[in-house]
Amino acid sequence: MKAGAAGAFLLIAGGVAKADSYDKPVGKNAKIHTLVNRDNPSTLEKKHVPLVKAPKAVKKGQWFQVKVNVGFMIEHPSTPDHWIDRVELHIDGKKVSEAVNMAGGITSSNSCFEIRLHKPGDAKIEAVANCNLHGTWLSEPVHIKVEG
Ligand SMILES: [Fe+2]
Repeated sequence: MKAGAAGAFLLIAGGVAKADSYDKPVGKNAKIHTLVNRDNPSTLEKKHVPLVKAPKAVKKGQWFQVKVNVGFMIEHPSTPDHWIDRVELHIDGKKVSEAVNMAGGITSSNSCFEIRLHKPGDAKIEAVANCNLHGTWLSEPVHIKVEG
């Protein structure tokens, strides 16, 4: 994981995500919460569903940044007793990286990953975030084009 300026990103919203395609969610037997109704999200959803920001298109093999904000409408708090302790990055349903926040109040709820993709075509990027009090949450998918 790298922190720093995220550059210009384009959000591409997809449909409501399904949580059954993940190879290793945070914690064993963890229930993964998703955004149920985008038009009327609950306060918990606003604060916990991650928002993935990535370029619309990238070149095969070229590094790029993916920023994950938690939550997608309201920034999740970070206090010593309540914080986002983990953010995972998934590509096409496979976990490829994670950021672990060991202490609340110091670490941000947001994360930035630098990755590259080698397979030309479409790629689906998603994030899974875990709140120490409110459980595990899946982003909506972002689809990008990997140019060969
Ligand atoms: Fe929370």
